[in-house]
Amino acid sequence: MCGIVGYVGPQSCSDLLVDGLRRLEYRGYDSAGLAIYDGKKISVVRAVGKLQNLVKALREQPLEGTVGIGHTRWATHGRPTEVNAHPHVAGNIALVHNGIIENHLELKRQLAEQGVKFASDTDTEIVAHLIHRESSAGNDLFTSVQRALRQVRGAYAVAVIDQKQPDRVVVAKNASPLVIGFGEGEMFCASDIPAILPYTKIMLPLDEGEIGILPREGLQLFTLDGTSVGRQPHTITWNAAQAEKGGFKHFMLKEIHEQPRAIEDTLRGRVDLAATDVVASEIGLDEATAKSIQRVYFIACGTSHHAALYGRILTEHLARVPATTELASEFIGRDPVVGPTDLVIAVSQSGETLDTLVALKAAKAQGAKTLCIVNVIDSAIPRVAGAALYTHAGPEIGVASTKCFTTQLAAMVLIAVYLGRRRGTLSQERAHTILQGLVELPHQMRAVLALDDIIRDLARPLASAKSALFLGRGVSYPIAAEGALKLKEISYIHAEGYAAGEMKHGPIALIDAEVPVIAIMPDDTVYDKIASNVQEAKAREARVLAIATKGNADIGGIANNTIYVPKVDPALTPFVTTLPLQLLSYYVADFKGTDVDQPRNLAKTVTVE
Ligand code: AGP
Repeated sequence: MCGIVGYVGPQSCSDLLVDGLRRLEYRGYDSAGLAIYDGKKISVVRAVGKLQNLVKALREQPLEGTVGIGHTRWATHGRPTEVNAHPHVAGNIALVHNGIIENHLELKRQLAEQGVKFASDTDTEIVAHLIHRESSAGNDLFTSVQRALRQVRGAYAVAVIDQKQPDRVVVAKNASPLVIGFGEGEMFCASDIPAILPYTKIMLPLDEGEIGILPREGLQLFTLDGTSVGRQPHTITWNAAQAEKGGFKHFMLKEIHEQPRAIEDTLRGRVDLAATDVVASEIGLDEATAKSIQRVYFIACGTSHHAALYGRILTEHLARVPATTELASEFIGRDPVVGPTDLVIAVSQSGETLDTLVALKAAKAQGAKTLCIVNVIDSAIPRVAGAALYTHAGPEIGVASTKCFTTQLAAMVLIAVYLGRRRGTLSQERAHTILQGLVELPHQMRAVLALDDIIRDLARPLASAKSALFLGRGVSYPIAAEGALKLKEISYIHAEGYAAGEMKHGPIALIDAEVPVIAIMPDDTVYDKIASNVQEAKAREARVLAIATKGNADIGGIANNTIYVPKVDPALTPFVTTLPLQLLSYYVADFKGTDVDQPRNLAKTVTVE
């Protein structure tokens, strides 16, 4: 997830582009850059870190010109360095990109064979070279971009300028957002509406597979195969604050709704259905090493620890290796026994959590193999770990983690299948079912998110509760724990997440008509057992809200209310059962009027022990 801005018109555009990037900084902030045509040539200025560093660099090397592109980066391929920052230049071409090019290695190999030298480690630079190759063959900018993108597989929004045709910006979109802004004798493009809202309210979001030419006079829009598109722009009625949150009231709600896209980005290029395998050399384990592992430790805190609990279950189930989950803060304190045949997997959205970092260092010092699942590229944890599998959720602004959690779950499936295939414990048939189910999840998740209004209504009575109990079994137990954490974090209602079978060993004493019970009970092998546990709660007058699988005919006799989720493979139910719990917590908090995005006493990154 990166931010793009582009301009063509009569104004000198450097300040305007920086101003647009400032409103897109929530999309990425590890580096930024501008490319502007100054009447003779394209000049580029880039800087690592926050946008302020680019502003400083531009003071030393000002850019003047009326056609330009800008970018703020959220690294996916290549560290956050100046050479990896956008715009990327190849000959007469400068390009900014948001997305992930799936077949970048294959394309890089082809280009290298033709003598192309690369300046960066990014997937983006390859697209710049592809366009340059087409341009050098005599094509105009539009045709060059069109022909280059036909060779590309993956997600992209691009804005491209050309020294040979400097009166225009060419843009294209597939899976990553791009909106066109229409001014008086000037045109804009951006990854998101807020970037250009101060300059125009007349906008047109591009559809999948569209490519456009932006001269000053307007937009010429086509599909990638060259068919002309006649869609009309419309007027945006949001104010700037609404626009930044994509029209949602809070970042958390926006991020909840971004999850299908975030999962797609995490899986992009990593699932090979034809080979029934996970393609992720970044896991850093060859077949012999994968076979030699005798134990897996997952270490994490908070929400990431709940993802780890799921990872543990899947790793044992699919890779048949003993696995255990540790709270990072406890792992450090108890002098653990780990060694060279252990794989220690640190899980962290921020990559900076000190407890997890210290635990990881301790494991590494004892000779364990180390891997991390992290969202922020080149943060502290991946710099220490032997290998890093990045989730590509994009920046998460809401302090309560949502999309980072579900993308961590996706990473857990990838690792378990990867290990299972290499250890010979996972049959091709079962692996195919899991991987097929995995790639279908974004679709199923969208169906759950469509229940937003129903869930909002069910949240209203919960807002007056003093305490709530979340129950789950098997893979639904981590989800119960996460549901409870989410509710307490943002609504300040006391909540417990319990393994349903454990309820009778104590928490059952809490149950009465005033304590809502939220039971996560999708169709799986433990359904009958949790159904009995919920009956036990009902017998003590509990009011039960069930999360159950669509088509469950019995649940009406057990629960007072039910949220139905689509049927998915029993190992993958957390992806669909998590979403209603996030929405429930969100709406309870919103009804209570708490500060949803920045709940009291919490911080997004916890760098103290
Ligand atoms: C999640 O909603 C919380 N804010 C918190 O539990 C968080 O998951 C925990 O602090 C760990 O953070 P990390 O994933 O960045 O390591």
